[in-house]
Formats: sequence, C-alpha cells, structure tokens
Amino acid sequence: MKKTLIVLLGLMLALGVGFNVLASGVLKVGTSADFPPFEYQDEKTGEYLGFDVDLIKAVGEKMGMEVEIVNTAWDGLIPGLLTGNFDCIISAMTITEERQKAVDFSDEYFDASQVIVTKIDNDDILGVDDLEGKEISVQIGTTGDFEASEIEGAVVKRFNLAPDAIQEVRNGSVPACIIDLAVAEEMVKAYNDIKFGEPITVETYGIAIRKGNTELLGKVNKALGELKESGEYDEIHGEWF
Ligand code: ARG
Repeated sequence: MKKTLIVLLGLMLALGVGFNVLASGVLKVGTSADFPPFEYQDEKTGEYLGFDVDLIKAVGEKMGMEVEIVNTAWDGLIPGLLTGNFDCIISAMTITEERQKAVDFSDEYFDASQVIVTKIDNDDILGVDDLEGKEISVQIGTTGDFEASEIEGAVVKRFNLAPDAIQEVRNGSVPACIIDLAVAEEMVKAYNDIKFGEPITVETYGIAIRKGNTELLGKVNKALGELKESGEYDEIHGEWF
C-alpha cells in the first residue's frame, strides 16, 4: 500500500515536472535591435530593451514561456522566421499585404506612420512632393523604403541599420530620411540638429508568425488581448511613450 502510494507520488511528481518544462518553454523571438524606442541594445550591458521587448516578454509571461531574443538584421527577419531560427518576430514590423503573403500577423499592437526627417534648418522639404528628384536615406526593405521608392525621380539610399539612415541626414549626405514616427521622435530627442514633419502614411505593427502555426498565433492574440484588457499594455506603453 505504502509502496504504491510512493510510486504514485513519484509518478505525479515526474508528470508535474514534465508539465512545467512544457509550461516554461522558450519562445524564440527575432528582432532587429536597431530601432529605439522599440528595440535596441543597452550599450554597456548588451541587454535588449524597448517597448517591443517589454511587450513580448509580457506576452511570453501570459503564455507561461520564457522569451529569448534573437537579434537579426532587419532584412533577414522574415527569411529567419521562415527557416525556423525563431518562432515569431517583434520588430516594429508594419502589417502589409505583401508581407502577409509570406507570414501571418497577430492582432495590431501599435499605430504607426512614416515621417520625413530633415536638418532642423531645412525649410524647403515639407511633404512628399518636395522630395521629387531628391536623395532619400532609408533602412532597406522597410515601409520607409517602399514610400521613398514611389517618389518620382528620387534616389533612394538604403542602409542595413536604421540609425545609419538618420546619420546620413545629420552629416548632410542626403537632405531627407523616411522612417517611423516614434523612432524619429527618439532621434530628435537625442540630436538637436534634425526635425521631422507630418505623418505621410498610416500603419500598424503586428507580431509575425509562420503561416500554419495557428496554435502560436492564437496564444499570442489571446495574450495580447489579456494585456490590453488588464491595463498591462497601457502600463508598458506609458513607460516608453
Ligand atoms: N515599420 C517599418 C516596417 O515595417 C520599419 C521597421 C524597422 N524595424 C526595425 N527594428 N529596424 O517596414
């Protein structure tokens, strides 16, 4: 009798541990950590920080999973997701029809737009029309790149890293950069020699997940919904914006 009990207890323990391993599984997340305040690395500690990083950690927590950040160049993110280097992408990634052909997106988690960044004393570039025939810096493969590429006669200079595109404006190599609003705000806070104009697009960010991985998609959307409902989303938002 005693023996059976011990065996039973042992079994329950083993099962419990098994469940816990499952429950504390690791969610691998691809991001391009060159985009403050959404994702960047602390210069000293190398720690990944930003709104997206906090949000995905909170999502992971709701799912009972630990989040592991896999820093990947922006234009390698979707290929990296498709080859299975990570389970999802959070990287201030705009939901676009083109991208939806390759990946699925979670529910929207952030309203965004593109803006034109110029030197602070530039007063002839006020909108997209003023960029015709001009040189424009962008991060390669971003919605900023897609916007710039539509402008008549514009010469688009593409950079792997977002901050390099901004730097190009600061050092006078190009008159304008097209980039996400909140990143432009962050850059204007950091450097007082640049400014940005009115939003030129309407976009929303989503978390990208491999097509067919509906179980993960469902769990991520459920977690996002819970975070919005509980006010935790607003708390994280308030910390960064
Ligand atoms: N929102 C833009 C896009 O989806 C730019 C995102 C760039 N993200 C980054 N982490 N560098 O194309």
